[in-house]
Amino acid sequence: MSKDRVNITILVSGGGTNLQSVIDQVENGYLDKAKIVQIISSNPNAYALERAAKAGIPGICIDKARYPKDTERNAAILKKLKETETDLIVLAGYMSILQPSLIEAYRGRIINIHPALIPKYCGKGFYGKRVHRAVLEGGEHESGATVHFVDEGVDTGRIILQEKVPIEPGDTEESLAARVLTVEHRILPEAIKMFCDGKIR
Ligand code: GRF
Repeated sequence: MSKDRVNITILVSGGGTNLQSVIDQVENGYLDKAKIVQIISSNPNAYALERAAKAGIPGICIDKARYPKDTERNAAILKKLKETETDLIVLAGYMSILQPSLIEAYRGRIINIHPALIPKYCGKGFYGKRVHRAVLEGGEHESGATVHFVDEGVDTGRIILQEKVPIEPGDTEESLAARVLTVEHRILPEAIKMFCDGKIR
């Protein structure tokens, strides 16, 4: 796809530092074709929703409390995606699983950021601090971040960008997470730019 404007919906569940990196890169003109049309959160208390509000971006919550069934949440998300004419879905710390019908409808147009070097330390159960703990327990010398397309598996879609960081002596889950996050904040906007410029599909 190479359009003049790419409508992006960002799905979040937590703090939203990756969301912020995309907002910043839209505002400073690096992502000149991107328009963030809405933020959808699976968590009503996500700080990411405040970041959206501060940036003047519509933020909504589609969570289990309001939509208990997976199919209902899926339908509610799909409705919002259609209303906003979303071209690209970005999962930025989204802690929920998308239903196959949604993935099928947006195949090749959903990307995710994962805080490790896929295919290592990914898949079911590898989320948040658990990823970094497993990397440290695994005695690795390096970790990193990966942006990939989303398919029906967990962290199994085609890799778009990946960058390594070293493990330093005395690293903790927190220190490693922080080092990986600095990379995430760079490669997520970069992958979005590649999509907007029609360089990946
Ligand atoms: C990031 O580490 C991301 O890779 C993972 O969840 C975390 C979200 O952090 N999927 P934030 O909400 O963007 O700060």
